[in-house]
Amino acid sequence: MRAKYIMNKNKKEIDRRRTFGIISHPDAGKTTLTEKLLLYGGAIQQAGAVKARKAQRYATSDWMAIEKERGISVTTSVMKFNYNGFEINLLDTPGHQDFSEDTYRVLTAVDSALMVIDGAKGVEPQTEKLMEVCRMRNTPIITFINKLDREGMAPLDILNDIENKLQIECTPLSWPVGMGKRFKGVYNLYKKELYLFMSGQETKSRASIVINDLSVPTLDKILGSQADELREDIELIEGAANPFELDHYLKGNQTPVFFGSAINNFGVKEMLDAFVEIAPSPGPRAAVTREVSPYEEPFSGFAFKIQANMNPAHRDRIAFIRICSGKFTRGMKAFHHRIGKDVIFSNATIFMANERENVSEAYPGDIIGIHNHGTIKIGDTFSEKEPLQFCGIPNFAPEFFKKVILKNPMKTKHLQKGLIHLAEEGVVQVFRPLAARDYILGAVGMLQFDITMERLKSEYGVDAAYEQVDYNVARWVQCDDPKKMRDFEEQNSANIAMDAEGSRAYLTTSEWQLGYCMEEWLGIRFCKTREINA
Ligand code: G4P
Repeated sequence: MRAKYIMNKNKKEIDRRRTFGIISHPDAGKTTLTEKLLLYGGAIQQAGAVKARKAQRYATSDWMAIEKERGISVTTSVMKFNYNGFEINLLDTPGHQDFSEDTYRVLTAVDSALMVIDGAKGVEPQTEKLMEVCRMRNTPIITFINKLDREGMAPLDILNDIENKLQIECTPLSWPVGMGKRFKGVYNLYKKELYLFMSGQETKSRASIVINDLSVPTLDKILGSQADELREDIELIEGAANPFELDHYLKGNQTPVFFGSAINNFGVKEMLDAFVEIAPSPGPRAAVTREVSPYEEPFSGFAFKIQANMNPAHRDRIAFIRICSGKFTRGMKAFHHRIGKDVIFSNATIFMANERENVSEAYPGDIIGIHNHGTIKIGDTFSEKEPLQFCGIPNFAPEFFKKVILKNPMKTKHLQKGLIHLAEEGVVQVFRPLAARDYILGAVGMLQFDITMERLKSEYGVDAAYEQVDYNVARWVQCDDPKKMRDFEEQNSANIAMDAEGSRAYLTTSEWQLGYCMEEWLGIRFCKTREINA
C-alpha cells in the first residue's frame, strides 16, 4: 500500500518537471533569454543578474578567474525555477570560450531543448553542431527567433534556412508584424491574439489584443498599412505551413517556431507558456540491459558533468547527476555500478527553486550535485536496487589537438595519472599514437587545453606545456571483421591512436583525408562519438 502511494506521489512530481537546455550560437541572445525566463519564474528579481555574471566570465580568460567563476557557475549550471506549477530545470550549455564537451554532454541529460536564433543571422555553426547532438536522441526542440526589433532576414527565409541546414520541419506558432523600425508585434497563430510591441519592456505585462477575425477594421487602425501585410502573411502561412503536430515535435521531427525580442521581453511569455504545455516531462531512458521508466520506484541516475571545485586545498569535485527514476533523498544509499560499491549520498547539493531551499528530496528530471574526490567519472550510473548502466553519454570527436610537452621527464608517471583522471572527468581527451610515445590531447573547445595544463600543475605537480600538432580530425574506428581491423591498423599505423579507455581512433589532418580513407576502407566504421564505459 505504501509503495503504491510513493509511486503516485512521484508521478505528479515527475509530470510537472521540464528539464531543458538552450542551443544557440554565441550572441544570439541565450543569456538575455535565460534572464527573462528566470524573471518569469521568480528565480531572480531583476534584469541584469545573469548578464553581470556572464560579463565577469567574458572579461577574462586567465585560469584563476575561470576557477572562481566555476565556483559560481556550479549554481548557474542548473537554474531551477517554478512557472505556473511546473518545476523547470534549465541546464546551462556553456558557450563562448567556455564551449567544451560539457556543452554537448549537457544535452544528453535534458528532455528537450530551446533553440535561439538571431533573426539577422539565421542558423549559425555552433547551433548546427549542437543540433547534431540533439538529433542523437531525437530531442524535441522549440525555436525562438530573436532580435526582431532589428532589421533581419525575412521570416520565411529564416524558416527555410532552418529547414535546409538543420533538416527539421518548421511550424510557426507566432508570426511577426514587421521587423526593425517597423516591428509592431507578433500574432499568436494558435490563440489568434495580436500582441503589440513596446520597446524597452522589462516587466511581465504587455499589451495584447484579441483578434479572432483578421479582417476587422480595428486591425487597420492599429497597424496601418501593415495590417494588409499581416493578413497576406497569415493567409500564406495557414495555407502553406506545416500544421503543428505534437507527436512530430516530440519525436524531434518538427520544431514549433516563435518570434520575439528577448531584450525587450517580447514574445518570451508566449513561448514559455507553450513550452510548459507541450515540452515533454522526463521520459524513459535506455540502459544496457533495459529501458528504465521514470515512474519506477527505485532511484537511478547518471553523471553527465564533473566540475572541479574552487578550493584547491580540498580538491573535491562535484558530479552532476541527472535523476532518471525513483526519488532522491539526502543521505540515501545507491550502488555505484562501475566500482561495484554502495555509496552514501550524504553530501549532495540539490538544485532547488529559491523559495524551497530546505527541500531535501529530488525527482526524475532534477539534477543533484555530489561532492567526491575523483571517484565519479562521466557516464557513471547509480541505482538503488538493480545494477544498471545507462547508455547515451558519449565522448565527442575532438576538433582541436595538441601534443603535451613535459618539462620535467621525472614526472612521467604523474603526467600519466593526471591525464587519465582528467580524461575521466571529461576535461580533455587523451590519445596515445601507436607509432609514438606522445600524449595527444583532443578537445572541442580551446580553453580545455589551458584548464588541463593548469590542473596538471596544481593537482598533480606536473609542469607541462602543449604544442601544435598536425591533426584536425578524429574518428573512433570499429570493424566486425578482426582481420580487416588488423590490416587497417597496420597500413595506417601513423594515424592510429588509443584513447584513455583503450578505444582505437583514427587521427588525421583534414576532413578530405578522412573522406579518402573512408572510401578506401569500406567496412570500417568511422564514428563521431564513442559511448563511455561501453
Ligand atoms: P548569448 O548569451 O547568446 O551570447 O547572447 P546575449 O544574451 O549575451 O546577447 C548578445 C547581444 O545581443 C547582447 O548585446 C544583447 O543585449 C543583445 N540582444 C539580446 N537579445 C536581443 C534582442 O531581442 N534585440 C536586440 N537588438 N539585441 C538583443 P551586447 O551589445 O553584446 O551586450 P550588452 O551591451 O547589451 O550587454
